[in-house]
Amino acid sequence: MLVTLRPAAALAVVASLFAARVHAIPRVTRTGRYLYQEDGTRFYIKGIAYQEQGEVIESDDNHFLEPSTFVDPLAIPAACTRDVEYLRQASINTIRVYSVNSSLNHDDCMRTFSDAGIYTIIDLALPMNGSIDRLAPSWSSNLLDQYLRTIDVFSQYDNVLAYNIGNEVVLGDSTQIAPYVKAAARDTKAYLQSKGLTTLVGYAAINGASTFRNTLADYLSCGSEGTAIDLYGLNDYSWCGDSSFEGSYSGITTQFADYNVVAYLSEYGCISSPPRLWTESTALFSAQMSDVWSGGIAFSYFPAASAAGQFGMVTVSADGNSITTSADWDRLVTQYGANNGPNTPAQGSAAASTYPTCPSETTFLGSNTLPPTPNESACGCLESALSCQFTPATRNYSVVVGELINTGCSLLGEAGGSCLEIGGDGQTGVYGRVSACDPTIKLSYIMSQYYEAEGRNAQACDFAGNGTVNSGSTAAAAAAASSCIASPSATFVPSAPPTLSGGGPASTNTRTSGGNNGNGGNSGNSNNNSGAVSLVAATNALIGVAAMGFVGVASAVWTLV
Ligand SMILES: *[C@@H]1O[C@H](CO)[C@@H](O)[C@H](O)[C@H]1NC(C)=O
Ligand SMILES: *[C@@H]1O[C@H](CO)[C@@H](O)[C@H](O)[C@H]1NC(C)=O
Ligand SMILES: *[C@@H]1O[C@H](CO)[C@@H](O)[C@H](O)[C@H]1NC(C)=O
Ligand SMILES: *[C@@H]1O[C@H](CO)[C@@H](O)[C@H](O)[C@H]1NC(C)=O
Ligand SMILES: *[C@@H]1O[C@H](CO)[C@@H](O)[C@H](O)[C@H]1NC(C)=O
Repeated sequence: MLVTLRPAAALAVVASLFAARVHAIPRVTRTGRYLYQEDGTRFYIKGIAYQEQGEVIESDDNHFLEPSTFVDPLAIPAACTRDVEYLRQASINTIRVYSVNSSLNHDDCMRTFSDAGIYTIIDLALPMNGSIDRLAPSWSSNLLDQYLRTIDVFSQYDNVLAYNIGNEVVLGDSTQIAPYVKAAARDTKAYLQSKGLTTLVGYAAINGASTFRNTLADYLSCGSEGTAIDLYGLNDYSWCGDSSFEGSYSGITTQFADYNVVAYLSEYGCISSPPRLWTESTALFSAQMSDVWSGGIAFSYFPAASAAGQFGMVTVSADGNSITTSADWDRLVTQYGANNGPNTPAQGSAAASTYPTCPSETTFLGSNTLPPTPNESACGCLESALSCQFTPATRNYSVVVGELINTGCSLLGEAGGSCLEIGGDGQTGVYGRVSACDPTIKLSYIMSQYYEAEGRNAQACDFAGNGTVNSGSTAAAAAAASSCIASPSATFVPSAPPTLSGGGPASTNTRTSGGNNGNGGNSGNSNNNSGAVSLVAATNALIGVAAMGFVGVASAVWTLV
């Protein structure tokens, strides 16, 4: 944006730009498996998780107590100003933020932290439909747009160390989701690169059995630079109470000894044997671990309660103006102040990464064939060509979409059709032609196929008032999909996302954004869970699926196990 400034204001801006340049936070880049500042000093993440806990609705489907709302901590300048001195006194150089709202202004907070020498690791997922759904995984245009919008907003700041593409999405019993996560890394990297940005792309993994944990880590960093993550985070709570390197960390350190990209602890700080001594940071920043790990993120600054106890280390006063620190916090301050990782190896002697052949263990189900790059214009083309379109009655339609996909797939199955084209299978690496489109477009596609199977009887497009016949449609749904989505497995550099106010791409209907909804309608992908490919044959199977579809099981923005 061009702004005309009066001379005095212009001078002030020049002066502050100059000041900013003099004191600018050094850029941190990756050489092989290590991070370095511009002057060649090794960089270790001395971090803390920095986000107030969102609203958690407990349910059978929410094993991880994931929140359904969030408060963007980088959009509250007074709070950032309030907290920055505490963070600085604790020698913290990085904060991890789990969800941000790209329509808010982050200038003040990002400046406050940059001036204090504090970097940010920004997770790109949002609660509910803003993350890859573990039960109905999909890498689709709505998520891609959300990720890229956040990158567009944060790329103007000098203190973004990394973007995380997911947190604990892949679990030990659902490794077939991994290709969706890796596709997100691939497209996010390609976009950053196309903008000339070197910000790192990371993933934060749940800890678990070493077979699953290590294979997932290898899977995410294998193959080629273009698809590998730069930064592997392990959420590790294995050092409890007065433990030791041998007792807690020597195993993982040995197992990651040959890892090819940067690794760090994306969360740490066990609470099961209070008080928390934070002595693990002595090990983490010592030669015992520094060759493998580049620091970690202590969990958590703000209160974060779980069944196991309280992870938070400060409390905020009722008026929000001040904070009170805990004894856990004081111990963290002492440990962080006393421990600095060794400045080795020198950048000049650090080897560049090599990208090994991808794992093919039978216990790890993720295919090495990744989902395609979502093609916004192809999906928009399809949407406007469809004969029966989803026309949501409310702005709050994401849950409804899941339900309606379940209903639509059931009806379509009875009418002899299938929902294969909107689903995918990360185990076989087969992805339906419409699988990368926004869930609302997937729904319109199913509605149209049903409507057409019923001889274009207007009643068949009603869906209790959720569907509208598109009189301008000239092609059948399947033909429209073949012509609009001509290359359903293409990967390419994604372009900038459409602006939020502009209406969907190529969209003629009433929706307000190009990205929409959904926990995706689990039925589209319920076949992933069952391993079966054909969709919704049996009605009794459907009931279970529909029940799942109702609750958005977000892929973790936070997890408090
Ligand atoms: C982002 O903030 C805007 C403005 O307050 C709000 O309308 C919108 O719902 C927020 N988005 C999310 C995903 O929270
Ligand atoms: C995306 O889809 C549009 C519309 O069908 C097509 O013209 C374009 O070539 C596609 N882009 C890629 C990279 O496949
Ligand atoms: C959106 O719908 C869900 C489920 O119907 C409901 O729980 C939630 O409160 C609604 N949110 C808003 C902002 O209307
Ligand atoms: C749309 O579908 C939802 C989910 O099946 C249903 O609850 C609702 O009554 C339908 N009609 C409208 C106008 O929202
Ligand atoms: C999530 O659903 C809401 C409507 O409920 C929509 O405004 C938003 O764009 C959706 N987000 C994504 C990433 O699909």
